[in-house]
Amino acid sequence: MRTSYSVLAVDDEPSIGKLLEKELSTPARAVHVAGSARQARERLRRATYEVVVLDIRLPDADGIEFMVELRQRYPDMEVILITGHGNIDNAVEAMKLGAYDYITKPFNLTELEVVVERAYQRAFLRNENRALRHAHDRGRPGVTLIGNSQVIKEVRYLIEKVAPTDVPVLITGESGAGKEVAAHAIQSLGTRADKPFIIKNCATLQKELARSELFGHVRGSFTGALESRDGLMAFANKGTLFLDEIGELPMEVQASLLRVLENKTYRRVGEKDHRSCDIRLIFATNRTLAGEVEAGRFHEALYHRINVFNIEMPPLRERKEDIPLLAEFFLARLGNGRDDLRISDRAMSCLMQYAWPGNVRELRNVLERSIILAENNLITEHALPRDLAGFAGGGGGQSGVSGVPGASGAMGEAQGPLSLEAMEREHIARILEFYDNNRSLAATALGISRKTLYRKMREYDIG
Ligand SMILES: Nc1ncnc2c1ncn2[C@@H]1O[C@H](COP(=O)(O)OP(=O)(O)OP(=O)(O)O)[C@@H](O)[C@H]1O
Ligand SMILES: [Mg+2]
Repeated sequence: MRTSYSVLAVDDEPSIGKLLEKELSTPARAVHVAGSARQARERLRRATYEVVVLDIRLPDADGIEFMVELRQRYPDMEVILITGHGNIDNAVEAMKLGAYDYITKPFNLTELEVVVERAYQRAFLRNENRALRHAHDRGRPGVTLIGNSQVIKEVRYLIEKVAPTDVPVLITGESGAGKEVAAHAIQSLGTRADKPFIIKNCATLQKELARSELFGHVRGSFTGALESRDGLMAFANKGTLFLDEIGELPMEVQASLLRVLENKTYRRVGEKDHRSCDIRLIFATNRTLAGEVEAGRFHEALYHRINVFNIEMPPLRERKEDIPLLAEFFLARLGNGRDDLRISDRAMSCLMQYAWPGNVRELRNVLERSIILAENNLITEHALPRDLAGFAGGGGGQSGVSGVPGASGAMGEAQGPLSLEAMEREHIARILEFYDNNRSLAATALGISRKTLYRKMREYDIG
């Protein structure tokens, strides 16, 4: 499950492309640019995009025809059209043919950003529902919370108890420990399993737009609010809203969220009347919210409302007995049908001894890598990253192989020394890749704050 996504902007005017790339990019939203239909096709072959912003006038194709082509080839992707004033009829026609929405030139970036975010929500929701349907078809829940340790059994017990109620749940735990997996489990075991499940990472809410994104707005309520729009509360109505990284919820909207919890009502931006809603709320955080309250960054009353039923996901190092089971699960899932993949005893003992600061996510990533390096379907300690393989050292040395090929062997190539900067850049890029582009994990692994990481990524033009 991703809470970040990619947008492809197709416009033959380089200045517009640059502007979109610069202004729409956020840590959770990558924006790439193509100057023609041909370039766009090429980019789409190489990467997955959730949303395309497409100028209706292209040098090498008819915009509408190209939109139809994209919708047919990539049905999971939403297309937003940019059109000149003279072309509005075309745009309306295009919506009938499957465009998500259109924006007229000269457009307002704020408005475009809201439309892009909504388009993504729709793409996401559709995939989500399809996944759920598949899971139902096979007659089992869509998520599996793997583990047999006492602590995970307790978590499962709590989930099963709380799922059928409408009580708000706060899931806490370290990064990669399975908070999102738990949220899915609660949703799929509850009475709202076949209703919308909306996930929003609060770290991606921008102060100025947060209110509109959550609650919607009426036309003209702020510059750029060209049309009235629903917010996430309306999308999630009757269903479940999972607010991830709740500690990052902008102060500006905390009181309004409290109102949703207490009175089940909210107001759209620019509207007087309250609307009622019926939403099951799930929250997650890897911060100590109490600390945020103390620091004055989190509303105390909201904290108490959120913290009614807390499920703490235990870190992997506290349930190491689950590692073999998890490993088996991931080998089956990531092994592409190779069902005779095995892990050697020594490699398994490395997995058991390592401290797993990145928890289950790190385990999954390590296995994904080691599957590629497996010889004769056997994953030995040599297929593990150096940090981990180190735990096998000192043993009987059956193969006598030293110097495990590690992921981080940047030096030692005979190409002359890298500059310190180049090494830093390479190291950061590698760590980001290793952690699936999860910035908070990467920052933790690098021992720097997320802010510093973002700064360095900008500096080095990474990501
Ligand atoms: N008990 C589990 N069983 C199966 N897979 C799991 C389990 N726990 C975590 N995972 C897998 O590990 C990865 C990380 O899990 P998840 O995204 O739920 O972590 P998280 O706690 O939300 O992390 P973050 O704080 O970084 O958002 C996912 O790929 C997830 O599928
Ligand atoms: Mg998460």
